[in-house]
Amino acid sequence: MDTQRLAAGPETIATAAALLRGGNLVAFPTETVYGLGADARDAEAVARLYEAKGRPRFNPLIAHVPTIEAAWREGVFNAAAAALAEAFWPGPLTLVVPVRTGGSICALARAGLDSVGLRVPAHPIARALLEAVDRPVVAPSANRSGRISPTRAAHVLADLDGRIDAVLDGGDAAVGVESTIVGCLEGHCVLLRPGGIPTEAIEACLGMRLASGQDDAVLKAPGMMASHYAPRLPVRLRAGPIARHEAVLDFGGQLEGASAVAYLDLSRSGDLHEAAARLFDALHRLDAAGASGIAVAPIPDHGLGAAINDRLRRAAAPRPG
Ligand code: TXA
Ligand code: MG
Repeated sequence: MDTQRLAAGPETIATAAALLRGGNLVAFPTETVYGLGADARDAEAVARLYEAKGRPRFNPLIAHVPTIEAAWREGVFNAAAAALAEAFWPGPLTLVVPVRTGGSICALARAGLDSVGLRVPAHPIARALLEAVDRPVVAPSANRSGRISPTRAAHVLADLDGRIDAVLDGGDAAVGVESTIVGCLEGHCVLLRPGGIPTEAIEACLGMRLASGQDDAVLKAPGMMASHYAPRLPVRLRAGPIARHEAVLDFGGQLEGASAVAYLDLSRSGDLHEAAARLFDALHRLDAAGASGIAVAPIPDHGLGAAINDRLRRAAAPRPG
């Protein structure tokens, strides 16, 4: 299969929407990372999406919709979920809520669960695309399973060229880490994945602390996905002294001057937003630098730092097989 690269504009957005409605796989930009889209109603398209990504098992997908009203039609929102939706949508927040009877998202996209992950993205191209498709679009990050998430179209093509129908190129993703996922299933709200909205902002909106959960908890073998977002090279966290053959991923200049194969600073000024936006691209680059491993400076754990550290821990986790 040839993967078309479409520079985003009114005509190509219409083309991409028609491809999605026809059951094809189209990657598109969101404010967090590029997503690999498929029609959420079409189980065959969703099955092909799992196959293209090489997901080891069916892991529920996030359905993207253009408006809050469209989300209401697919899920049941309790007061807390509604408050979070009103406060943070459109934006980098995914809410896992009970699926609404008569909703249109196929069971395969939900991995057979009676809950559904919903998100209204803020990216103008994503929104225009979703409006044109006029049905929910599932979109996991547009990378092969377990690999680094893409923040530009070139990353998508490096991983998925020939396995998907098209990629809509809309430039760099601004946030750079995936959405925060909050489960609102029973009385309480659970943080399933730290991400683009800081946990502190969500807790301030709810007026209470979030319980902590695990987005992988729905998998039969918990821990299976502990290794994720993985570069080819081994990753060493909270690095002090640097070995000559290593590549360095710095934050705020802490490891400046180390004699290493390659050196990138996520943010010279110690800005966590800038660091999140650069994270995956920096991992892609250092991975290709011919080093023996990637040494990462300590990164503060507040605000977007929690999402950055979550991704880095997974990148550094022991790899299966
Ligand atoms: O920022 C993002 O969220 C990106 C962009 C493309 O929107 N998407 C993304 O999707 O990160 P993905 O498939 O890589 O991550 C989806 C996560 C999975 O960890 C999955 O387990 C969780 O969402 N999830 C989805 N539906 C769920 C449900 N019903 N219950 C529990 N977890 C769910
Ligand atoms: Mg992913």
